[in-house]
Amino acid sequence: MSTSPEGRAEELRAQIDEANYRYYILDDPEITDAEFDKLLRELIDLETKHPKLRTPDSPTQRIGAPASERFAPYRHARPMLSLANAFDEDELRAFDERVRKLAGAHSTSSGQAQIRYVCELKIDGLAIALDYRDGALERGGTRGDGTVGEEVTPNLRTVQTIPLKLRNPAPAFIEVRGEVYLRKSDFEKLNAKRERDGQPVFANPRNAASGGVRQLDPKLTAQRKLSFFAYAIAEDGKGVKTQSQALELLRRLGFRVNEHIETAETIDDVIAYCRTWEERRDELDYEIDGVVVKVDDLATQERLGAVARDPRWATAFKFKPREARSKLVDIAITVGRTGTLNPNAVLEPVQIGGVTVRNATLHNQDYIDSNDIRIGDTVLVTRAGDVIPRVVGPILSERTGKEKRFRMPDACPVCGSAVDHPEGEAMSRCTNAACPAQVVERVRHFASRGAMDIEGLGDVMADQLTSLELVRDISDIYALDRKKLERVSRMGEKSINKLLTAIEGSKSRGLTRVLTGLGIRFVGEQTAAILAADFGTIDALEATSLEDLQQSEGIGPEVAGSVRLFFDQKANRAMIERLRKSGVLLESTTPRRTGEGPLSGKTFVLTGTLPSMTREAATALIESAGGKVTGSVSKKTDYVVAGDAAGSKLAKAEQLGVAIVDEEGLRSLI
Ligand code: IVH
Repeated sequence: MSTSPEGRAEELRAQIDEANYRYYILDDPEITDAEFDKLLRELIDLETKHPKLRTPDSPTQRIGAPASERFAPYRHARPMLSLANAFDEDELRAFDERVRKLAGAHSTSSGQAQIRYVCELKIDGLAIALDYRDGALERGGTRGDGTVGEEVTPNLRTVQTIPLKLRNPAPAFIEVRGEVYLRKSDFEKLNAKRERDGQPVFANPRNAASGGVRQLDPKLTAQRKLSFFAYAIAEDGKGVKTQSQALELLRRLGFRVNEHIETAETIDDVIAYCRTWEERRDELDYEIDGVVVKVDDLATQERLGAVARDPRWATAFKFKPREARSKLVDIAITVGRTGTLNPNAVLEPVQIGGVTVRNATLHNQDYIDSNDIRIGDTVLVTRAGDVIPRVVGPILSERTGKEKRFRMPDACPVCGSAVDHPEGEAMSRCTNAACPAQVVERVRHFASRGAMDIEGLGDVMADQLTSLELVRDISDIYALDRKKLERVSRMGEKSINKLLTAIEGSKSRGLTRVLTGLGIRFVGEQTAAILAADFGTIDALEATSLEDLQQSEGIGPEVAGSVRLFFDQKANRAMIERLRKSGVLLESTTPRRTGEGPLSGKTFVLTGTLPSMTREAATALIESAGGKVTGSVSKKTDYVVAGDAAGSKLAKAEQLGVAIVDEEGLRSLI
């Protein structure tokens, strides 16, 4: 590191330029946002202390990175500004003081002004601008360096939530700005598909969204299922005097505006909002990385103006980072339920967003290869809410040359059988269906809450039962008796009785749970519920052809093929016979789906977490009784089924006078 201010500024500039290039052009960042912010801050501080160092080409003087040459330039009528950051409460208070002083100096004689703020979630996607002329989408572009971006209109037209036409009355011209992003659920699906197809997976939804918008073929953009939130009017929001009114107008014109936006009368309210959403961010189906705080009054915004790249009337409160660097000490392999060999990163423990991370997923060999991850590397690790931590990639500049490449073993690390890596598939598999690792996983899964729900048969018990060879496949669970269980260490009379009762109780769960528990590839709770409702018994399902299976809603060739493959195996059919002989109910407990039922013609909306059912299971239950489930509450909704932490849908139902029931209420309707 250089000690002279000149040298250090030079270094920082080079690092920031490189980081910008990797982030904006390659969609492949190498340092965390927090690290980037730190570099930029240091450079801004240096330049403030030594103004001579502020060269016109300094990265502090522009926003983001230049547009790439793949697209036509999109020149912004007004620069697309960036935002200064506030990292804690004190910095938010300092922002407020500054705003009140500057605004007040012009407005009131007391020198202080009362400022109303708008608090918006900071959506982690990419900013775009959209021009509408006479109510029709004319062009759209990315931010680029803030002055010139890339024109990506055909791609943006594929985003469902970007209106192609505005609702009337529409202004003659309006430029709208907002964030294109990818929902977490769509991100998971996209990555799962890429993994199946042997393509490299994306590190986070933002990269996938950014890459999606900048595809050369709009068809590829469309496949990403991008979403859009509008948050600003850049030009010609005639008559609009505040940011709140701008958001109202955007809603009226047909844009999606985030529903969690709130106004705040004091900085204390702003701070409370920031705290709330830092805690609640995992409840959302999209990533947010902070809160954007904006002065509501547009005339005040104008007066406050901007310094260099940042407006003085807004700031971004940044949440604690959920990315960090660590060292990849080793790669350990676990064998999954279907025999997949899963490579897991063994990391030097590192704090990410308040938890200590020691392990992270590396997906598969392709992921490791395409990201050039080597044992011994310093790596970037992210932890995005509900998903397991993931190794994003190596920090190449930290390479010493001593790192080692990783190869999947040819033999299963648990049973020593051959490992198969089918052409075109991402995963390697142990070929031995009786591999103890697979059996344990299958037993665990069968007994888990979403499946047969056998209390007392958790991870540890499954391990013991299989290693003592008391259970070789799931049907053996029902052959367990007192004598066998006495061999399990630390199993007294009482716990033996409890477990046997739980096993007995599981026999009557019904077909959906059994199908879920069998762990057939691609058959989760939701698909199991559909199959159970449509076929009624396991025999009917077993006797159904590949073609007929696909007549069921949502069952494609992939799922149908996997179900057929399962029943075509003699060993599986024999196991089902053993389950039947033990008295396990292999019929559906809900009536067959016929479109008719106690809920025929009724429309339901689900909100919040139900005590004992997943959303998919509740949907299947309602549908099997002839009802319909939709996503949003309207006058046409007959019932809202509300669970814990129900949000705006519940409020809407109350407002419209729609009947509200809980899980028990739903069951009694059926
Ligand atoms: S306002 C001058 N509002 O955050 C105001 N930005 O550095 C500039 N962002 O790249 C933007 N959610 O893409 C604004 N509700 C929101 C936002 C938001 C996300 C992004 C935007 C920009 C970055 C600001």
